[in-house]
Amino acid sequence: MLQLPQHIAIIMDGNGRWATQKGLPRSEGHKAGANSIDRLMETALELSIPYISLYAFSTENWKRPISEIQSIFQLLNEFIDSQLNKIHSNGIKIQHSGRVQRIPFMSFKKIYKAVQLTKNNTKMTLNFCLNYGGKEEILNACNKVIKKKIKNNDKLDKGITQEELEKELYTYPLPPVDLLIRTAGEQRISNFLLWQIAYAEIYFTNTLWPDFHKQDLFQALEWYSNRVRKFGGLK
Ligand code: IPE
Ligand code: IPE
Ligand code: MG
Repeated sequence: MLQLPQHIAIIMDGNGRWATQKGLPRSEGHKAGANSIDRLMETALELSIPYISLYAFSTENWKRPISEIQSIFQLLNEFIDSQLNKIHSNGIKIQHSGRVQRIPFMSFKKIYKAVQLTKNNTKMTLNFCLNYGGKEEILNACNKVIKKKIKNNDKLDKGITQEELEKELYTYPLPPVDLLIRTAGEQRISNFLLWQIAYAEIYFTNTLWPDFHKQDLFQALEWYSNRVRKFGGLK
């Protein structure tokens, strides 16, 4: 019996390269990447993995050409429109992690609707990290804790605790990440879930995100099940 992770986080990278290799526009790569999300959801449900976090758009991705940004948000809108019923009937809860400001209004409305509709679902949480940056998240959480303390007339000189900060992370109440997967060969974190991956096992694969199939997830899970997790202690 494999030891399965509770929380899998994925840096879905390589959509652009996938398209370029096929002589297609980059937007076609993002479209193919959306199909990979659909497949992944099905497999995760079959395996009863309770938490999945997906890096869909970073706070740094605004540096890309406006046409590419528009096509990513357009695809997100289409993804929600076409998948929401299925997501809901499968008992999946949608969460959004990231800064709301700057997300195009239409996309924000759709995400908000998806979050509201699915909020009581319990089979699995699909956490969309959109306009997400790990540094921004930690700073935002610190500022929120401080503001709360000022409002409650609490003393600030005692500092803040990990528990207080964690409650203000966008990902709350998700548990820490057990397995972080990054596709497309790059071996970096790119500002993803910096706090939550403190003790995650990190799996890099050369497979481009649109080519990531059930079998690739199984490979990652098999690799994960052979890790010895010590959390700083001894085994
Ligand atoms: C990841 O694929 C998807 C997003 C960042 C939205 P990329 O678009 O980064 O693909 P590559 O890295 O250029 O191949
Ligand atoms: C990370 O991929 C962000 C997402 C997958 C959404 P990038 O392609 O933006 O990361 P870098 O620029 O290669 O580090
Ligand atoms: Mg990339």
